[in-house]
Amino acid sequence: MTKSASASIPPAVTVLAPAKINLILRILDRRADGYHNLWSIMQTVGLEDELQIRRSDSSPDIRLQCDSAQLAGDRSNLVYKAAAAVMERVPHKVGLDIQLRKAIPMGAGLGGGSSDAAATILGLNHVLRLGWTQREMAEVAQPLGSDVPFFLYAPTASVAGRGELVRPVSVTGSKWVVLVNPGFGVETKWAYQELGTTRNAIRPLSDLHRSLEQGQELSWSQLAACAENDFEVPVFAKHPLLRQIKQTLLDQGAEIALLSGSGATVFGLFASEAVAQRAVRGFTAQAQLKTFVVPTSCGPLIRR
Ligand code: C5P
Repeated sequence: MTKSASASIPPAVTVLAPAKINLILRILDRRADGYHNLWSIMQTVGLEDELQIRRSDSSPDIRLQCDSAQLAGDRSNLVYKAAAAVMERVPHKVGLDIQLRKAIPMGAGLGGGSSDAAATILGLNHVLRLGWTQREMAEVAQPLGSDVPFFLYAPTASVAGRGELVRPVSVTGSKWVVLVNPGFGVETKWAYQELGTTRNAIRPLSDLHRSLEQGQELSWSQLAACAENDFEVPVFAKHPLLRQIKQTLLDQGAEIALLSGSGATVFGLFASEAVAQRAVRGFTAQAQLKTFVVPTSCGPLIRR
């Protein structure tokens, strides 16, 4: 790269990595690779981690700092893995300094780690001027985790296969979301195993699901009519508190209240911020619960 070309490239970028909720989550058959096929409608919400990615010409290493004591900034971190996967495909080797500020609760069914990984790919595509398409970025994203490709097609998308078959959909209007995190996690692997041993049969997808997948423009009432999460049965059986949280959200006027992913966060969807704020007051006396009131949002955002 010539000196003048490298001078025109912005050396740093800030990317916002939003959380997701599953408006519908159906778990289908177990595949030969041990994973399950799933079918979901996923939606990003305005609770965001923040990544600052800076190109460094001093050494070719990836250096990651994370502000959370619960999360190592080493090679085990999905952000590191995503950056390494991008750099493997890049001919001109440069170093990277990455800072990750966590706001999304971890192990919470909100896809925080996956969103951070997608935001890393998006940020590097920008800061290294790679010119990759959405599909090229999604190819890098897929081996990193089942939820990672979705975030490149956010804010709303149908997701199938193991998570790699993503189709963006547009939903008219926006909603307010109350997230209630109980302060403990649910291990995804356990939730899949429990579902496999407790359910009698896999319910096939209906024509309604297929039509949602085909539909270009969806309404919130179409989505609300088939909002469900297969993980609720096994996860609520083990954690009755989560069922109570769901019921409280519905009692407070939520149009939909569901477990997100394999949990443990439960969310409620509300027509306005005022109703959402009123609903969240019902949880403030329980100190162990973490609550958030946020709008449905757009995808990972580059903030220069
Ligand atoms: O994708 P992630 O690493 O979060 O998945 C954790 C575990 O959940 C996997 O190791 C697998 O046992 C299970 N899983 C699955 N089918 C999927 C996604 C996850 O069986 N589509």
